[in-house]
Amino acid sequence: MAISLTPNKTPLSENARAAILAEPGFGKYFTDNMVTATWSFSSGWSELRLVPYGPLSLDPATMVLHYGQEIFEGLKAYRQPDGGVALFRPEQNAKRFARSATRLALPALPEKLFLESVNALVNQDRDWVPTQADESLYLRPMMIATEVGLGVRPSNRAEYVLIASPAGAYFKGGVRPVTVWITTEYVRAAPGGTGEAKCGGNYAASLLAQQSAAAQGCDQVVWLDAVHREYVEEMGGMNLYFVMGQGPSARVVTPKLTGTLLAGITRDSLLTLAADLGYGAGEISITVDEWRKGVADGEISEVFACGTAAVITPVGAVKSGTGDWTHGSGESGPIALQLRAALLGIQGGTLPDEHGWMARVS
Ligand SMILES: Cc1ncc(COP(=O)(O)O)c(C=O)c1O
Repeated sequence: MAISLTPNKTPLSENARAAILAEPGFGKYFTDNMVTATWSFSSGWSELRLVPYGPLSLDPATMVLHYGQEIFEGLKAYRQPDGGVALFRPEQNAKRFARSATRLALPALPEKLFLESVNALVNQDRDWVPTQADESLYLRPMMIATEVGLGVRPSNRAEYVLIASPAGAYFKGGVRPVTVWITTEYVRAAPGGTGEAKCGGNYAASLLAQQSAAAQGCDQVVWLDAVHREYVEEMGGMNLYFVMGQGPSARVVTPKLTGTLLAGITRDSLLTLAADLGYGAGEISITVDEWRKGVADGEISEVFACGTAAVITPVGAVKSGTGDWTHGSGESGPIALQLRAALLGIQGGTLPDEHGWMARVS
């Protein structure tokens, strides 16, 4: 499949780009170019087009604006010690994007096209990949339903768009543990729903719960299963991990994928990395009661969240309708920090990539 390259003829000046890269934040600035492709029911996928970054023009009756038929992804490109650039497990994002598309009745973008688009954009805008430790170029692929009309049915047209945004270190001056609010009032996903898909609607529906967590003085919301409101699922936009026991005999476990959790790529990678480091690693079902009791009797020594954006975020304290508790002294736990360093080392190319996770951008 070919890609047509019509890059921006007036990219941002080197000085202006350097000023942005000095303090990129997250999701605030965008690179000079983007990649798009169009799908129609009758013709399938067009070729990929690399074009200058710019607004989309949509008819007000475009389906996505009414019924939210939309999916997205999130992955990062990392500067390597030799000055090159590499992506972390991009084929996993391609696969998840295709699964999300199927759930939202959108056309699956072939994995090859997904990877080619990411490679082309990072290659074109490689000067935008930050060079400092823990920084990266965040890539945001998305797909929207673009047929015009108000009938509620799967769209006959779709647009794939890939944009890129430099991302600074998530934690400046060291990792900061978060305080979480366990909500029993709202649910993120129910069996048979879209919890496993990365679709915009899931995030729209989460915002009120996030506001209620903030009102409780918490940084993030923890989601429970929709049926019993007991089993722990995820934290905000990240998967959760529990450390059972301490030291070399600790077990590092995460709620199992029931169909209502997002199958995080960081989550999956940590199952492997924890085993590499000699810990027991696996999936569990855990209720809020078991969480509280496990912390009280010392069985649970650490809890942390993981995802592409923030890598690993320790959970320092918990608030809920049935009580509050703290993990240890509320500081980052040693195993969370060890796993974080192991993952960042692989991504930044300072530790060996034993599982072949890094994909060099040509
Ligand atoms: C709801 C949710 N859970 C978990 C994750 C973590 O997934 P990943 O590790 O693939 O970034 C994300 C972020 O993509 C998310 O939005």
